[in-house]
Amino acid sequence: MNGKWCVRCGKDVPTPYLKKNTKLFPEKGKVLDIGCGNGRNSRYMMGLGYKVDPIDMANDFGVKCVLGKDPLPNKKYDILLANYILMFLDGDVRFKVMGEMHSRAKKNSILMMEMYPAKDAYEYNFNNMVDYFLNKGWIKIRKSKDRCILEKTNE
Ligand SMILES: C[S@@+](CC[C@H](N)C(=O)[O-])C[C@H]1O[C@@H](n2cnc3c(N)ncnc32)[C@H](O)[C@@H]1O
Repeated sequence: MNGKWCVRCGKDVPTPYLKKNTKLFPEKGKVLDIGCGNGRNSRYMMGLGYKVDPIDMANDFGVKCVLGKDPLPNKKYDILLANYILMFLDGDVRFKVMGEMHSRAKKNSILMMEMYPAKDAYEYNFNNMVDYFLNKGWIKIRKSKDRCILEKTNE
């Protein structure tokens, strides 16, 4: 059990932001759950009929993938979930993984990011992270201080 992380994220219910905004997602498609933890969001999306690839460095659920070291699965996705994960990557690794996220997204893919300044997190500037995607042709659907939903407008 991935005790260190899953004390915080070990709930069985999906993150409220995901539940509230599922209506903005394409009705069908492939989901990449990046840093899936115990799989609460993956299981929710599977329950809605999506095909989900859950990945995490801990093998509680899904496929083992150490972000920054192992590349993201070499597939194209309709929805990318990055809930409470990117702040645990230091700046260079974070932007490297964000580049992989961009390349694994289809045109009109949806990206959800949620951040939290946890004690053991690296510093981050969420606006810069969002701008990174906007500069690559994504548009804002929703954005608040620490969470957003973006859509990719190019291939
Ligand atoms: C706070 S949990 C969030 C889990 C899930 N996204 C959720 O919302 O319930 C953070 C997760 O990030 C994973 N993680 C942290 N650093 C990672 C890395 N470099 N590569 C892969 N997973 C990582 C941890 O194992 C943990 O499961």
